[in-house]
Amino acid sequence: MTRHLVIAIDGPSASGKGTLAKRLARHFGLPHLDTGLLYRAVGWISARSGRPPAEVAASLTADDLADPQLRSDEAGQEGSKVAALPEVRANLLKFQKEFSSQQPGAVLDGRDIGTVICPEAPVKLFVTASSEARAERRYRELRRQGVDTIKPRVLAEMAERDRRDSERAAAPLRAAPDAWLLDTSEMDADAAFAAALAFIERKGFRSSGP
Ligand code: DC
Repeated sequence: MTRHLVIAIDGPSASGKGTLAKRLARHFGLPHLDTGLLYRAVGWISARSGRPPAEVAASLTADDLADPQLRSDEAGQEGSKVAALPEVRANLLKFQKEFSSQQPGAVLDGRDIGTVICPEAPVKLFVTASSEARAERRYRELRRQGVDTIKPRVLAEMAERDRRDSERAAAPLRAAPDAWLLDTSEMDADAAFAAALAFIERKGFRSSGP
């Protein structure tokens, strides 16, 4: 691989973008940043410490991202709320930009990677799936983790988060005009990876690994 390869992946929750990002990063030997984790950590820490979200965002460290509780739906909702604050977004921008400019490239997933963080990325994917398919996945994942919930509640919470993420004024969830749309409603993780890889290889990028 000779060209700087930034793979920008956006999409709503439980669309499969995180799994896809990890697999593409492994395939191409690139570092991966789950940017949702940054917002989750800001929301989580701010809610528990009472510190203003923008201040938490300005002093976030790698250690703050290690808490397993950040994977919970509660942290997702808190992340979604602070993500609507322009100062929070501004304070997380530099870290994300620097991450994406390392050589030989990087994979980032989130909501505004192709539109705001890496508008120059040579590969942009917008991963989506029907609300039903996403809620079903999330429901199964929660049950696997032993969380007692019901499908209608998962669907309602997901709809609330989608609405907040799509309707906010600051960097709302949008597909970049030059993003490739991947609907994973009828796909498993292997099929989504194969489709995305074929698209990236058509653009002339190949893994330099074994
Ligand atoms: O991808 P996720 O569910 O971990 O993200 C948690 C929240 O963070 C999501 O509801 C919206 C916000 N987010 C964002 O606004 N911009 C990003 N690049 C990533 C996440």
